[in-house]
Amino acid sequence: MTTTATGVFSERIGRIEISATMAVTAEAAKLRAQGAKLVDFGAGEPHFATPQPIKDAAIEAIQANFTRYTVVSGIPELRQAIVERHAADFGSSYTAEQAIFTTGGKLALFNAIQVLVDHGDEVILPVPYWVSFKDIVQYAGGKVVYLETREAENFRITADAIEQAITPKTKAIILNSPSNPSGAVVSPKDLERIAHLAHERGIWLLLDECYVYLQYTGALVSGGSFTDAKEHIVVLGSLSKTYAMTGWRAGYALAPKPVIAAMTKLQSQSTSNTASFVQKAAIAALRGDQACVGTMRADYLTLRDEILAGLATIPGITCTKPEGAFYVYPNVSQYLGRPGVPSAMELSKRLLHEAHVVTVPGEAFGTDQHIRLSYATSHADVEEGVDRMKAFFGKL
Ligand SMILES: Cc1ncc(COP(=O)(O)O)c(C=O)c1O
Repeated sequence: MTTTATGVFSERIGRIEISATMAVTAEAAKLRAQGAKLVDFGAGEPHFATPQPIKDAAIEAIQANFTRYTVVSGIPELRQAIVERHAADFGSSYTAEQAIFTTGGKLALFNAIQVLVDHGDEVILPVPYWVSFKDIVQYAGGKVVYLETREAENFRITADAIEQAITPKTKAIILNSPSNPSGAVVSPKDLERIAHLAHERGIWLLLDECYVYLQYTGALVSGGSFTDAKEHIVVLGSLSKTYAMTGWRAGYALAPKPVIAAMTKLQSQSTSNTASFVQKAAIAALRGDQACVGTMRADYLTLRDEILAGLATIPGITCTKPEGAFYVYPNVSQYLGRPGVPSAMELSKRLLHEAHVVTVPGEAFGTDQHIRLSYATSHADVEEGVDRMKAFFGKL
């Protein structure tokens, strides 16, 4: 047990930290409450409203009193809708029993790791990584094995690099493509090789595909479509970004039946089912017209190019070109070490307080020379935010 000034907590809770992105959001909210007009590049969520048919389906469900407990893993119609959508978009062949609906993609990931990773198990995690991966692995008692990538290669993850990181203790590999925070995409060839490699070695491949529909180059690929390797693949999906549904808490996992059964058992002892009417909304999202997904993706692509063009006008800042998701991950190392800027963390804080621009420091993602900017915001805010940053960096 860990004893702290405020009480006695489990050793487990001492292994994790509060999500850094949530901490930034909280600090920004404080400033906003004081009347500051912030440009928010911090939050990783769509600026779009949830499409109307999805909202209508939830309202209809509530009016029809579809407001009771449901089965833990999601109503059959929803699990069927999940696998049908995935099959139509990626050519996969999951059955409804190989799907579970969860309270956000984050819970799908949390539950999958809890049921697969034991004390001392190694989990390979490419850097930079989304904030929650390492904490969730550590909470389960696992040991994170960080796999460095090269900025000069667009933070690309290759099958060769993964293979070299495997040891007899490797239990799982986490891949997040397109990546939060770098926007890097694993090439279909590498993804296929990694899937087969994992399968041959009996290692779990956890694929966080929450940005799978937000890819700007090449065909959309899901690791779940490599059917000959799927015995060791767990696909973690989310409706949050695809359909602008972050607050609804709607995610899922696709995996072999015993994994889904174990995740269901765990969920039955924690959150139980996801809100009943959210399940109806999710069916509307998955079965409805998908044009909204393409419309949003097209806007993100324009926003990406606008923010990249803007950042290119700030002397000393360089930035890789993201191939997906809605983040840019500029390198700010030229400014670090100047008076009052000892770290990316401090730089982010100063950007918030002095320029009223919200960003997330790279330390949260495992690198210390970058800041992350989410461009899921208005075109006007991208322009204004870049102007503010230009003025701020000009004075450093
Ligand atoms: C890589 C990644 N995975 C999972 C999630 C969680 O998404 P959800 O809202 O479905 O829990 C996020 C959210 O930002 C994310 O960036």
